[in-house]
Amino acid sequence: MPPAGPTYDLVIAANRLPVDKVVADDGEVEWRRSPGGLVTAMESVMRTQPGAWVGWAGDAGEAPEPFDEHGIYLHPVSLSADEVRDYYEGFANDTLWPIYHDVIVPATFHREWWASYQAVNERFAEAVAQVAAEGARVWVQDYQLQLVPALVRKLRPDVRIGWFNHIPFPPVELFAQLPWRAQLLEGLLGADFLGFQRQADARNFVRACRQLLGASTKRDRVTVEGAHRQVRAAAIPISVDFQGLEELAKRPDVMARAREIRASVGDPEVLMLGVDRLDYTKGIRHRLKAYEELLSERHLGPPEVTLVQVATPSRERVDAYRNLRAEIEQTVGRINGELGKIGAPAVHYMHHSYPREEMAALFQAADVMLVTPLRDGMNLVAKEYVTCRHDLGGALVLSEFTGAWHELHQAFACNPHDIEGLKQTILRAVNTPAKDKQRIMKALRRRVADHDVQRWAARYLAALDAAPDQPSPETRGRPTPHAQETPLMPAPAEAAEAAEAAGTAGTPARGVRS
Ligand code: ADP
Ligand code: G6P
Repeated sequence: MPPAGPTYDLVIAANRLPVDKVVADDGEVEWRRSPGGLVTAMESVMRTQPGAWVGWAGDAGEAPEPFDEHGIYLHPVSLSADEVRDYYEGFANDTLWPIYHDVIVPATFHREWWASYQAVNERFAEAVAQVAAEGARVWVQDYQLQLVPALVRKLRPDVRIGWFNHIPFPPVELFAQLPWRAQLLEGLLGADFLGFQRQADARNFVRACRQLLGASTKRDRVTVEGAHRQVRAAAIPISVDFQGLEELAKRPDVMARAREIRASVGDPEVLMLGVDRLDYTKGIRHRLKAYEELLSERHLGPPEVTLVQVATPSRERVDAYRNLRAEIEQTVGRINGELGKIGAPAVHYMHHSYPREEMAALFQAADVMLVTPLRDGMNLVAKEYVTCRHDLGGALVLSEFTGAWHELHQAFACNPHDIEGLKQTILRAVNTPAKDKQRIMKALRRRVADHDVQRWAARYLAALDAAPDQPSPETRGRPTPHAQETPLMPAPAEAAEAAEAAGTAGTPARGVRS
């Protein structure tokens, strides 16, 4: 079928578009930035080069017509109300999300959800096939679209296909619980290159192929299609737009707003901050428990110390999320009731999304940033915090179970399951002399500045181009021309590094088993 609209050399497919369609009661349509780290990262990548983004507009029903947004061609894919329930809330977020995050809550398996996941993945693949130019690079994102690589390969054998997993990939013992495990692996193996946040995730994937499919594997490669093709699975940890965010954080109005925020919570000696999607993986309950105990044991207390917890609404129709919200709000109420003072609440709890400027101001206002997930693929909030601290102020408390910790190991590391240990870490972050904290912050900032999202995208695309199964003229049409064309190609040394050792991008784990 000939393409009906424009085609692009780079096509991103992600469950969500970077903007969500919101229809007000009076029928007025508004586009709002979509939640989550995937959108934050991919939007900054796509703003710097021409390309198309295939995704859902966040609303059930017919898809809006394709449109341009800040230079990105957005191609909406429709989801019916049943598909929102079965594919998105069901299979993606009530089956895969728990399995991929260490089963912090039990996963639910329903065959109708799986059927819906297949149908929606097919629709995404068809949309990708429509907007991809001859020999394009197709870059599929995340756990919602694991069947898309193989489906696109069938429809468009001429394109080069990559997939990046923004979340962890589980150990085979957990992955094996999925009744559709073989189909998911086969879907992914349709790609030329598979990117993961940590080496442990890539290794888990390769092991799953060996143990569950009987595939032949060697280091980071899986052999498929009767030895005709190899797929590479390697770690390339994602990052933030360091330069763009730092510039924003240096704006006088943003810095003034940071001072205003501090003043509005009573100019405390220590302002602690938590910023998360309201998700059970983020360890918000553990953080509140540690904080509550520190207060009730009088190690800390308002008005000298306060906690601002910003919790973005997320997946609110899924039971585990609804229950979590109720529990968090009850806990905050109890802490304030028992340990707050008139005019000096112990916790300021906000259940909203904020503009980027406000987030940058919040980060600058915070003396201690609490990032305590039980499991997180990366956690961009940790990297955003250090990016915004151009003043070298602040301290980052960071869970060992985040991808970010594998790069930011100078941070105040914590195991959020160990409440006593978490309390001690928070106290250390408060009490460490300012000079030492500045030294730490400098090191953290250097790491993020040197490994920003632009470098991540360049490394990813170079690894995709250099993946083992280079297209041959018989099977793939004309050779892909993009290696010379993309403005995002890395410097030669970096290209060689990515081509040779894409799997060694992350700092090796220290002291954490995965
Ligand atoms: P996840 O992708 O699981 O939500 P990350 O920490 O990787 O977690 O990314 C979260 C992204 O969402 C960050 O860019 C962060 O700044 C943004 N964010 C989180 N909470 C809010 C909020 N209340 N308002 C606006 N942006 C938010
Ligand atoms: C995480 C996932 C993304 C997802 C985001 C927000 O970052 O990796 O794929 O888009 O959370 O979740 P939501 O379900 O609202 O898209």
